[in-house]
Order: sequence, then structure tokens, then C-alpha cells
Amino acid sequence: MLTREQNELLCRVEGAAAMGQLMRRHWLPVCMAEEVAERDGAPLKARLLGEDLVVFRDSEGRLGVLGERCPHRNASLVFGRNEQCGLRCLYHGWKFDVEGNVLEMTSEPPESGFAEKVKVGAEELERLYSFDEALIRYLDRFDEALSALEASAGNAHALSLDLHAQWRGFEDNGQWRFTPPVHCLLALDRAIEELDREGGVRARGRRYRENRRILVKGMRALGFRTYLRDAVQGPIIVTFHVPAGGGFNFGRFYDGLCKRGYVIYPGKVTKAETFRIGCIGRIGPAQMRGLLAAVRALV
Ligand code: FES
Repeated sequence: MLTREQNELLCRVEGAAAMGQLMRRHWLPVCMAEEVAERDGAPLKARLLGEDLVVFRDSEGRLGVLGERCPHRNASLVFGRNEQCGLRCLYHGWKFDVEGNVLEMTSEPPESGFAEKVKVGAEELERLYSFDEALIRYLDRFDEALSALEASAGNAHALSLDLHAQWRGFEDNGQWRFTPPVHCLLALDRAIEELDREGGVRARGRRYRENRRILVKGMRALGFRTYLRDAVQGPIIVTFHVPAGGGFNFGRFYDGLCKRGYVIYPGKVTKAETFRIGCIGRIGPAQMRGLLAAVRALV
């Protein structure tokens, strides 16, 4: 059991929190590039490690990730107009480029020079946000991470786990130093291919949500209660209360489902008597309905 302090240490990521500092040393996704594919398209709201961000693609196709709040009067730039190579705040019209520089400051005469002194989310931007075709990534302290990698030269406990040597190998000839972990790479490749074929993350999310909807509706119709409220129930796995009384025997229920070809989670992660049913994997409405028919036959 974690203490409150340990829990805070592990879960807090905002500002100077230790876990946040650690996470900022790694690549983290901000959003899918397809969500901001359109030049001058609608800005996208994002939130990462406790920071509210706005993502947009300007007229020249460059991507910008800025702090969400306008430095003038704190209005949200998510509602800004993305036009002519910049994001314009809807409140008083200040306009920012993808690096957070002020291009226009309607409330100040140009000769005041004030525009040069202001930047959106300047502190955050110093950490740099970097992009590639597939995924917009949040790059923080990359130089620091690189220095750590460089400093690790000769400090590996095993040849095959020598990250520095592996990195140098990739840099030199693009090859794995030893036999590549082919099974992992193939599995990842296949998983990405299947995801693409399905229509990407959104399409897969839709399928999982539909699985959950069918499951929850069907189980409730059979008298089962979900452990979580609908408002916080995710589409991955659903926890149900074990029915109290009525002679329900979870062991028999579990075995009966197995015999019918459906394996559910026997373990519980709550203090309450519960069991869980997953909605993910290569399953769809037909499998969820099949499972419900099996449950019906057992209760
Ligand atoms: S609040 Fe954005 S320009 Fe005033």
C-alpha cells in the first residue's frame, strides 16, 4: 500500500513535480498530426503534464504548439482565428506565430516595441516542441537526455543492453548491433498495420466504445451492476459487482463462460466483490452479443 506521499510522488506531474521532471525527459505525444492536418484549420486544444496547450498548423504548413492562454488578458487561444501565418486571439486581436512570437499587437502602436517583448508560453517554448509527419511530439530537455546518453558510454552491464553502443550503431549504419528483436518489431509493425487498416485510433476507439455500450446495456438487462458510473467508465474494461445472494457462484460462472469460449478476468482490483470484462482486442459487436448470450444461459 502506498503512502499518501509516495502516491503524490508517483502521480504528480505538474510544474516542478519530480515525476513531471522525469516525464519531460521523454518523447510524449501531444496529438495526432491528422487532427491538425489542415493549413489554417481550427486550432486544437491539448493538455500534457498539467499544461494546457493549443496546437495549430499555419498557412505554410508549419505546426505550432503554444501555451493555451493569451498573455494579454488570458483568453483561450483555442478559440483564436488561424489565418495568414498566425493564430489571432479573438479577444483583442493579438496574433502569434508558431514559435509564440507576437506578429501583431492591435492594442499597441508598432513604435512602442512592446510586441517584441512578449511571447506566448515562452518558458514552455524554450523546451521546444518538435514535429514529424506521423505524430506531433513533445520534446523536452532533449539535449539533456542526449548528454546523459553520451555520458553512459562504457557504462553498460551487459553487451546486449549497451544503449550507448546501440545508439552509435544506429547513427553509423542504421543497423542493430546484435540480432534484432524481430518478433517485437514484427508484432509492432503488424499492430500498426492493423490499426491503419481499421481507420486509426479514432476508429478503434469507436469500436471499443460500441463494445462497451453493448456489454453494459446487456449486462444491466441481466441484472448486473457496473462498479463505475457511466460518466467515468472507460471503453477498455468494465468492472461489475458480483451479484449478492441469489445463489450466484462466480467460480461456476467463470468456468461456464470458459466452456462456451469466453474468458473473462477472474481477478478483482477493488475491495468490493467484483469481476471484469474486457472490451478490447480483435472483438466486435458479434462477440459481445455472443458473450451476453453465454451469460444469459448461466444466470
Ligand atoms: S486577451 Fe488576447 S489579445 Fe487580449
